[in-house]
Amino acid sequence: MTTRPAATDAAPSNPWAFGDYHRFAKATIWEIGEVLAEACGIRPGQRVLDVAAGTGNTAIRAALRGADVVASDITPQNFPAGQAEAASLGASLDWVEADAQALPFADGEFDVVTSSFGAIFAPDHQAVADEMLRVCRPGGVIGLTTFRPVGPARAFFGLFGPYLPPPPPGALPPTLWGDEEHVRELFGDRVDLDLTRSSYVERASSPEAYRDLFLSTFGPAVGVRSSLANEPARGAEFEAALLDFAVRSNSGPGGGPAEYRYDYLLVIGRRRAGVDAVSADHGG
Ligand SMILES: C[S@@+](CC[C@H](N)C(=O)[O-])C[C@H]1O[C@@H](n2cnc3c(N)ncnc32)[C@H](O)[C@@H]1O
Repeated sequence: MTTRPAATDAAPSNPWAFGDYHRFAKATIWEIGEVLAEACGIRPGQRVLDVAAGTGNTAIRAALRGADVVASDITPQNFPAGQAEAASLGASLDWVEADAQALPFADGEFDVVTSSFGAIFAPDHQAVADEMLRVCRPGGVIGLTTFRPVGPARAFFGLFGPYLPPPPPGALPPTLWGDEEHVRELFGDRVDLDLTRSSYVERASSPEAYRDLFLSTFGPAVGVRSSLANEPARGAEFEAALLDFAVRSNSGPGGGPAEYRYDYLLVIGRRRAGVDAVSADHGG
């Protein structure tokens, strides 16, 4: 049985283990799992891998469509909440701890490989693209949703830099996955790609409530806040920056609920048969 670190514990090395990811996902991006499952055309009997699955946003939707599903993620602390969600819906799937950059699955094992706003957080984008392709059978489908580097997403990810340890050398930012050119380079000629710009809206009763949602549930924000427990001035500075973001990015009607429109790329690719899944860069 995995245990969730309390907010007062020393910071774990993985910020996604903090907070209450499932509550966060249900309040923000939960509709996207169904969007991605539908876009991938997931149907009964298919074998599906959801990468960086969190608590199963896309994986559970795939299972509800009758697919044979594996939900994988680097943060197993969040699996119990996903398992409870799946059980409440009568969905059955497997949960496997895995880094998106080194998936513990065989070549061509899956008909469909998905990731909703998940695999984008691994630092080595090329390794992620290569791995998702490797485990997908020729003719199979790869589907991702990726934040575009505009609007609230761009502002949001910039908030964390001053408070986190430096990323590993060569790490690329998650929102680069929202750049069409970058995605085309990552997959090269190995995939027939269909890239669609779309958006969805997150809502809260007020900007303060939106800030509080992050501070109480979103692992990286809870982790930063916890790591600053002995530096109250910096902790207050971080909270003020989050509120400033929530106020400035609010596009809701004056006096009404706060709204945040996030632009994303829906990436759907079909793996070409007869083309090696390993990219020239990573063929070593
Ligand atoms: C914003 S959440 C998205 C989760 C889920 N796909 C959803 O739609 O709710 C990002 C997820 O990426 C996972 N993650 C981050 N880096 C990862 C990596 N290198 N390999 C696998 N999962 C990773 C985190 O643990 C977290 O569950």
